Amino acid sequence: MIKKGIILAGGLGTRMSPITKAVNKQLLPLYDKPLIYYPLSVLMLAGIKNILIIVNKGQLNQFQKILPKNNHLGLNIQYKEQPEPRGLPDAFLIGEKFIGKDNVALILGDNFFYGQNFTHKLRKCIKLKKGASVFVHPVKNPNLYGVAKVNSKNIILKIIEKPKKFISNLAVTGLYFFDNNVVKYSKNLKPSQRKEIEITDLLNIYRKKRQLNSEFLGRGGVWLDTGCIEDFYSASSFISTIENRQGFKIACLEEISFKNKWIKKIQIREMISFYGNCDYSKYLKSLIK
Ligand code: DAU
Repeated sequence: MIKKGIILAGGLGTRMSPITKAVNKQLLPLYDKPLIYYPLSVLMLAGIKNILIIVNKGQLNQFQKILPKNNHLGLNIQYKEQPEPRGLPDAFLIGEKFIGKDNVALILGDNFFYGQNFTHKLRKCIKLKKGASVFVHPVKNPNLYGVAKVNSKNIILKIIEKPKKFISNLAVTGLYFFDNNVVKYSKNLKPSQRKEIEITDLLNIYRKKRQLNSEFLGRGGVWLDTGCIEDFYSASSFISTIENRQGFKIACLEEISFKNKWIKKIQIREMISFYGNCDYSKYLKSLIK
């Protein structure tokens, strides 16, 4: 059972400059919450309480204001700094001590997931004992992502990072589940042409050993990217549409903790006074009425 998760929330956010010059991208508002709430909610929905958040050097204080180590979410949050963006598998080198002898989930700080049965799929993924598992989802523009070619039995035949030639429309999303070998394998990765160690090289190690499993979000599932400003705004308006239609919030961390029985009404009341008089607090009040 995977009990630990890493959120990779560094990066320079250059594609969104100048907005990201003073504030890390993962702290910018995606509709009514900081972006990082969404990937964090995914780990929490999976039942993961032990979280390592990897942030840029010098940005720790920004993150701790909103997600302190001593939090009222029932989470064990740790932080580590990444000196510079050296590639996604760097998460496992920076997180080696945090991971210890356990298996681990990784989610990129800028990924958004939503959909029926998603929690159920997550709970299946955390049962991983050996190998690795990735979520794949069709996109119109696969050349912007890691792309997987799968056969009729959903076995991954090929994974290529940002392929110039079309191989498949299935993007590898930024949500991964790994056995403990991930630390050892990450140590052996060599930087690519863009001078980063690549997640696709890591996944290919598992694939060659026939230990890479693909999970499908399914047609009713939603995976949105927040890589550039247009994507950011369309993700925001998606969240606004759903939340305002249904009256439910997506990625309300306190709600998930409360439902997981990690916190009681008292912690929600404390969070209401922390957030102050705002719509989010009103929503929290409605949960404990
Ligand atoms: O979103 C899914 C895609 O994410 C995958 O399909 C690709 O295989 C994977 O390489 C990655 O592609 P991106 O081009 O979107 O990666 P990007 O460099 O934008 O980084 C994604 C997030 O991770 C972003 O929030 C910044 C953070 N990051 C990235 C790097 C390279 C770090 O915190 N540290 C890093 O060293």
